[in-house]
Amino acid sequence: MSVIYDSSTGQYSLHTENYSYIMLEKEGFLLHLYWGEKTFGDCTYMFREQGRAAFSPRMENCDGFILDDVPLEYPCWGRADMRTPALEITNPDGSVIVDLRVKNRRIEKGKPSIKGLPAIYVENEDECETLVVSMYDEVSNISVELYYCVLEKYDIITRFARIVNKGNDTVYINRAASCALDFDHINFDVISNYGTHCRERQIERASLKHGRFIMSSRRGASSHVHNPFMILTSPNADEVSGDAYGFVLVYSGSFSSEIAANQFDSARAVIGLNPENFTWRLDSGEEFTTPECVLSYSSEGLDTLSYNFSRVFRERLCRGKYRDIRRPVLLNSWEACYFSFDSDRLMKIGDSCAELGIELMVIDDGWFGKRDHDRCSLGDWFVNEQKLKGGIKRISDYLNEKGVKLGIWFEPEMISPDSELYQKHPDWCLHYKNRPRSEGRYQLILDLTRQDVCDYVFESVANILREGGISYVKWDFNRNMSEAGSILLDATRGREVDFRYYLGLYSVLERLNQEFPDVLFESCSGGGGRFDVGMLYYMPQVWTSDNSDAIERLRIQYGTSLVYPMSAMSAHVSASPNHQTGHVTSFYTRSNVALTGSFGYELDPTSLSVEEQKMVSETTRLFKEYGEILAKGRYHRLRDPHNEPCSAWCTVSEDKSVCIATYVLTHVRMYGNNERIKLRGLDHDAIYKERFSGVCYRGDQLMNFGLHAPISHEFGSILWILEKVEQ
Ligand code: DGJ
Repeated sequence: MSVIYDSSTGQYSLHTENYSYIMLEKEGFLLHLYWGEKTFGDCTYMFREQGRAAFSPRMENCDGFILDDVPLEYPCWGRADMRTPALEITNPDGSVIVDLRVKNRRIEKGKPSIKGLPAIYVENEDECETLVVSMYDEVSNISVELYYCVLEKYDIITRFARIVNKGNDTVYINRAASCALDFDHINFDVISNYGTHCRERQIERASLKHGRFIMSSRRGASSHVHNPFMILTSPNADEVSGDAYGFVLVYSGSFSSEIAANQFDSARAVIGLNPENFTWRLDSGEEFTTPECVLSYSSEGLDTLSYNFSRVFRERLCRGKYRDIRRPVLLNSWEACYFSFDSDRLMKIGDSCAELGIELMVIDDGWFGKRDHDRCSLGDWFVNEQKLKGGIKRISDYLNEKGVKLGIWFEPEMISPDSELYQKHPDWCLHYKNRPRSEGRYQLILDLTRQDVCDYVFESVANILREGGISYVKWDFNRNMSEAGSILLDATRGREVDFRYYLGLYSVLERLNQEFPDVLFESCSGGGGRFDVGMLYYMPQVWTSDNSDAIERLRIQYGTSLVYPMSAMSAHVSASPNHQTGHVTSFYTRSNVALTGSFGYELDPTSLSVEEQKMVSETTRLFKEYGEILAKGRYHRLRDPHNEPCSAWCTVSEDKSVCIATYVLTHVRMYGNNERIKLRGLDHDAIYKERFSGVCYRGDQLMNFGLHAPISHEFGSILWILEKVEQ
């Protein structure tokens, strides 16, 4: 049993395979006691009222808790806890108090889904046990159910809250976090992702200081800037040792993850919707459910924490037929042609794809409306017959005959002011009456809080897909929200737009998933501007970054690997010199870096030299052979490109019989680079034969001494493929 409630002590114990999460019900409050290596038995002694008043009032006429100094699970604003709350409500009388007390609890088999929102799922009931703690505020008649879903084998606990207005009048939810908890110390390092367009998910690590550390987005998208996850570690934790706690929010809009070190040297984590951008009107009888937050812990450092997250996201968040299979090797037309193509050019590219073994060709931006540049036509999802004579069908038939599939780009959430759609429906975009509409990349965002607009978006994509011949869609989103008003929404609902937008988007994506189960959807937002597990629920891969430079990708991929599965990360070989950075890199290094995620090309195959064509064919063959292992194997970060003049990583198959390892030198130190790369995750006693050199090694040698990496020129690299041989 992974959830145990002891009614004699009030202790709640949640056990996964490798850790325990313990809570205590006392005086009607749900207290956090412990989260760490597995422990059993009575833990109630762990709660000690410390009596640190320090200007913080005591509850219940001085007989109760100093609420500001107890470790809470879902703290509410309004009474005597002055720390960051999880829940803030304005009552009908204008008061801002919520005072929740536990009323009852139930333990259920399986895992509930969350209506309208992406969430972890299970394939059978035995995979999960769910604890639901029901709390109630007698004065405002607000009921809150806290959900704790324990996926024991995955070492995962998920949390979300369901808030119901049982009173007779309307209340306003000003803040509703998905998860909060208090640690009784502040000895943490905080690891976060930060970035910008073309430099996403860089890693920063800093020791926690007093005050609030917040990573967030107010941009109407999870964004390039911060990613919706937070990791806390013990100060000396590394890849293989130390405590590591992780929180990942399953949501694609504005979010906030906060860790605050308080006056009594305790730390509070609060993760959920960004309250700066949110108020929800909850009428009598209505309910509101937060997005889900996914939690994991490892006592063996970051490697295991990343494994826990990547495994559950790949196996129990991603869906559809592509979840478990190697993704097709694709070639995307963007960096090959940008907007300048016609059917002849595309068919020539298709010929090359067929010759080189590339399985899918994607027509990127520019095939619709009158779109020869980025200033027009978003919303006009009909084929530009001048560019594509005979339409998409002619190209797909041509390609299909050669064994190449066709994919296509859309940016369905957007509208160009210069479009037929805007002529007809100038009020379909997010905007406020009598306010200017700021354009980003000459475009506005469609108002997906509206059902008619959602229907239009669904139909425009579905109509093209219904014509047949398309097996892949790249779904782009190229600006963030500003002046995000919806003219149909009541004035009291102005701050609901972000969340309502995502409910609308998720409903469109769900309908598309249902009608087109065989289409592979890839999410994109100027590269990785919406690389989050919310989108992964509908689209199992994401265009990782608009920066396709192999050297820049090292950090981006490293940062992405902290919580995301490698199969989610699209990685393409692009031209050299690179279009974004000008870096000149060998084909070998470019392909070695791209052979980490869902693999493809972002170049013009018709302009390759004979030598390059050979390399493309060979690399494509390698991915076909090892792609499944790269997707499903366990990924290990070996060298950190943020702090070292190189990067290295390896992926080991589930049965440990194959290891694919890569090393890239990013900065030469003269006479200094006598590198040895120690691998991880192999069988100690097994013999592994390296594919390209034929040399055999013992597993323990590969892990304890490592492989020499005698590279002496900048941006040089080595790919090793090690396979177990009979002894
Ligand atoms: C941004 C994407 O990230 C690129 O790959 C490309 O699809 C362009 N948009 C097209 O406008």
